Formats: sequence, C-alpha cells, structure tokens
Amino acid sequence: MTIGVPTETSPGERRVSIVPAGVGALVRAGCAVRVSAGAGLQAGISDADYEAAGAVVVPDRGSVFSEADVIVQVRGGGANPDSGMADVELLREGQVLIGFLEPLSASAEIQALADRRATACAMELIPRTSRAQSMDALSSQANIGGYKAALMAAEYLPRLFPMMMTAAGTITPAHVFVVGVGVAGLQAIATCKRLGAVIQAYDVRPAVKEQVQSVGARFVELELDTAESEGSGGYAQAMDEQFYAKQREMMARVVSENDVVITTAAVPGKPAPVLVTEDMVKSMNPGSVVIDLAAERGGNCEITEPGKTVVKHGVTLVGELNLPSTVPFHASQMYSNNIVNFLKLMINDGALDATVDDDIVQGATVTRDGEIVNELVRSVLDGTG
Ligand code: NAI
Repeated sequence: MTIGVPTETSPGERRVSIVPAGVGALVRAGCAVRVSAGAGLQAGISDADYEAAGAVVVPDRGSVFSEADVIVQVRGGGANPDSGMADVELLREGQVLIGFLEPLSASAEIQALADRRATACAMELIPRTSRAQSMDALSSQANIGGYKAALMAAEYLPRLFPMMMTAAGTITPAHVFVVGVGVAGLQAIATCKRLGAVIQAYDVRPAVKEQVQSVGARFVELELDTAESEGSGGYAQAMDEQFYAKQREMMARVVSENDVVITTAAVPGKPAPVLVTEDMVKSMNPGSVVIDLAAERGGNCEITEPGKTVVKHGVTLVGELNLPSTVPFHASQMYSNNIVNFLKLMINDGALDATVDDDIVQGATVTRDGEIVNELVRSVLDGTG
C-alpha cells in the first residue's frame, strides 16, 4: 500500500498533507510513502526530513499520482478551483483521494471524481462524533484561523489591545465583538483575551453562551427566537432573511461600540449570512477593524472583498482566505494527524480497505465505483437538500 503526498497547487497554499511524523506512523503501519520533491518546503519541511522519516521523495507530482494507491491532499478536487480538475484527470479507477474537496458545492469536480471511478473521501464530511474528533480537520484548521484572526486584528488596529497603566498615561483596552462562536470564534476569543482585550460575543445557538463565558467573554443577549437554530451534528441551520434582518438591527449598536469585529458565522453548504451591513461599518470609529473569517463563503460583512484587505469608510476590512495556510508548519502538523488517524481506520497489516464498515469512513466517502455515494452530497448537488 503506497500513500502519495503531492505538492499542493492551489494558489497561496503553503500546507502539506502529511508531515514527517505522519510518514513515520504510516511506515510503522506497513505502508510505503511517496512525497513529491519540495512538497513540504513552504511549511518548513525539507525533502531530507521526509527521507529520514522513511518516505521516498520522487521528482514530480505525476510520479506521486502514478505510484501511489492513495493520494492525500490538503486541497483537492473542488477545494482547488485552479487545478483540482487537472488532478482528477491523473487519478485512475479505484485510486483513493483524501482531502478537502468542497463536496457540498463543487458539483462538477465531484461528478468528475465519480466518472474517474475513484474513491474520494472529503475531510469536510468527517462526522462530528467524539470518536471522530482526532480526524476533524475542519476543527483543527478553524482553530488556527481563529487564532490568526485575533493576531491580524491586533496588527491592523491603531490601538493597543491590553490595558496599560504607564507613566505616560493609562491606556484603555480594545473592545472586540466576535459573531459566530464555533471552533474559530472560541479560539479568536481566547487569543484576544490573552492579548488583553475586552470581548463580547454572539451566536445563534443558545448552548454557546456558557462556552463564551468560560473563555472570558460576555455573551450578548439578543431578543431573537433561536429555538430552530441548531441543526444536526452541532452545526447551525440556515435561518430566513427576516431573522437575519432582525439580527442585524439588534447587533448594530454592539458593532458600533467595538474597535474590532471578528465574524465567523457559517452554515455548512450555504453562503455565509450577511450580518454586518455597510451602514454598520460606517457607524464604527475610524481605524476600527473587521476580520471576516466567512469571506470564503461570500462573507458575513456586506462589503468584505474576499481575498483582500481593504479600507472602506475608515475601517479596515480583512477578507483574507485560508488563514491556516499562513501558519503552515503547525497547520500541516495538525492536518497530518487528522489524516493519519483517518487512514488508520482503513489500514490493516499494510493493506487499505476503503469499504471497511466504519461510520467515519463511510460518512466521509463521497464517490466510489462510479457513483456519488454520500446522500447529503447527492441531495445538495441535485438541489433537493
Ligand atoms: P461553523 O464554522 O460551522 O460556524 C461558526 C459558528 O457560526 C457556529 O457556532 C454557528 O452556530 C454560528 N452561526 C451561524 N449563523 C449565525 C448567525 N446568524 N449569527 C451568529 N452566529 C451564527 O462552526 P464550527 O466551528 O464548525 O462549530 C459548530 C459547533 O460544532 C460548535 O458547537 C462546536 O463546538 C461543535 N463541534 C463539535 C465537534 C464534535 O463533537 N466532534 C467537533 C467540532 C465542532
């Protein structure tokens, strides 16, 4: 059984799917590992590091695809809009592809994977069960995104984050409002707290209140009916536009009172809800900062420009995509652990069985034997989900 680690090709992607510690674990499990030359360089990992861990470094990506039984990527298929489709063409029948694949929106890529008769497993679909936590790459990467959001806010804000009592006067702490408190939001709060800011936070899922308080922030109470807000697997459900309009109205004052707004509100497979309007941005003090972690799905702020940092109405709006890739060493380490734990479910004595009767493996499998086998993906792609 040979596992292949190609260099990532998505523009700006600096992570690598498996780090040397992961190679060691796979070799011990009886697998061979092929890594394309330079695959880890941007994450600070040399070819020699891979070789020392037991991998064979091959000169190009094509060799990885032709020599491996399983291809492991960070961004494959639809998660790599530039050349994911070209990679699909390198796959052969029965070959296994594992990575972020955008299974709920990239219909052409998912259909192409099925047509290649490849077995594709999407890391986005790892179920949210206790047993699957060590494989939950969305969470491991969201954690890094939340951390980096806090650092970027501190960097762009013309104020200090902590309170300081100095001989040159007393500095008051920065005020931060976090909207959407899943994994990224909680880490953003914890990091802002460590930097000394005063933090308020809001989420539609009422269960979040206690978590917000436990990391040292105040939960903002909005009089909204959120009884329907939690769907399956702990994720939020999409609410109707009337709900979002009311939410915006109620949040307007809170937004205007804060120096920094960090938004992370997402609903799986749907565009991000617009929660911060242009008028709300106008109401913020000059120099304020909005970090929109939902930029990849269009953004929670009406005037975010996905992929860019811009200043509008005196407010810095950060719509950078793929923040985990800006911390590639540790983001790769965590992703690699997720992947290796997932692979171990399928590996037995150096052989890999992608049909193993395991709810995590089956839950993450999108295509097999020429079919889209995941019901959620099928229903979303044919418009009934
Ligand atoms: P996410 O990235 O899907 O969304 C971010 C947050 O935005 C969510 O908390 C969501 O409720 C919130 N949101 C959606 N619409 C909103 C709106 N209109 N206004 C304000 N907030 C809004 O979330 P993530 O990080 O995936 O976490 C979701 C939940 O799943 C959390 O409770 C997390 O602890 C839980 N979880 C459970 C795992 C497990 O059991 N293995 C693993 C990872 C997360």
